[in-house]
Amino acid sequence: MKVLGIETSCDETAVAVYDGEAGLLAHEVFSQFDLHRAWGGVVPELAARDHIQRLLPMVRATLAAAGTTPAGIDGVAYTAGPGLIGALMVGGSVAESLAYALGVPVIGVHHLEGHLLAPMLEPDPPPFPFIALLVSGGHTMLVEVAGIGRYRILGESLDDAAGEAFDKTAKLLGLGYPGGAALAQLAEGGRPGVFTFPRPMMDRPGLDFSFSGLKTAAVVAMRGRELDGQGRADLARAFEEAVVDTLVGKALRALDATGHTALVIAGGVGANRRLRRELAEAATRRGARVYYPRPGFCTDNAAMIAYAGYRRLAAGERQGQAIRARPRWPLDELAPITN
Ligand code: KG4
Ligand code: ZN
Repeated sequence: MKVLGIETSCDETAVAVYDGEAGLLAHEVFSQFDLHRAWGGVVPELAARDHIQRLLPMVRATLAAAGTTPAGIDGVAYTAGPGLIGALMVGGSVAESLAYALGVPVIGVHHLEGHLLAPMLEPDPPPFPFIALLVSGGHTMLVEVAGIGRYRILGESLDDAAGEAFDKTAKLLGLGYPGGAALAQLAEGGRPGVFTFPRPMMDRPGLDFSFSGLKTAAVVAMRGRELDGQGRADLARAFEEAVVDTLVGKALRALDATGHTALVIAGGVGANRRLRRELAEAATRRGARVYYPRPGFCTDNAAMIAYAGYRRLAAGERQGQAIRARPRWPLDELAPITN
């Protein structure tokens, strides 16, 4: 079964083809960073309009790269939420129309389910059950994944998401949007111990996070002084260490609390090298193992949507022809698949 996947929930237009037997055949991603940079963040209306312009040519190009045609597609999957309503509607209307025209089944996929299942696209996929640390621009969660659609949220951010904290602090440092990766790069040249940031919520039991205080800590650290290049790098490093320490600490706590030994890192912040390194070291010391999607499958992509859609369609799940678009959609509302 070949499934065409479409992702347009925010500022990436992405298309992929996943085959149940041959695996991932092709995937393409276009990031709208240049479009939104001048505004300092994503402008929802501009995002939706750009998806409209790019999506159909990208569908054609990705089908060609996969060595197939529309007639070779057996099902269509699209991100139905959570995300920006206008952006979601573009992918939803294209996917539903294509499926209708081709006479194939279609399914609206939960974006975070896509992120959680992204490591399944790698050659050495994690076994169920596992703990997933889902760290994106919009979400920070620890989830117990017992199977597809069997998700229990163990903890989440009470305010900013980890990626949001990276982006806001990057903006303070004049790094533009989206600043997470740029801040991480700046931090590489930073010296340890020059600035000290708090480790939010680590002194309390439980698995929830809070990151908005870190941005305030960065504002306070910068107040009244003119930081040179080295100073900015030192600050970036202190910030990154505080976020990484907190994420590692809570992820280990989740492993301890559940007794699971497989840990998955998903979402855009999962591309962070310090996080990947420190989590792997800490988990190995506990006899646990960390599984990562490749960095390009941590950030938004359609391969994960095609894969999640394939699993649900192959299990016989079907939906009607209404376009589904849910800006908010709790992850634990999803139904488990039956095989
Ligand atoms: O999963 P994602 O691509 O989009 C959402 O669903 O939100 O995550 C994007 C987030 C942004 O906040 C971005 O700054 C952050 O991931 N990010 C990083 C890195 N690469 C992307 N944060 C820290 N270090 C990185 N290397
Ligand atoms: Zn995402």
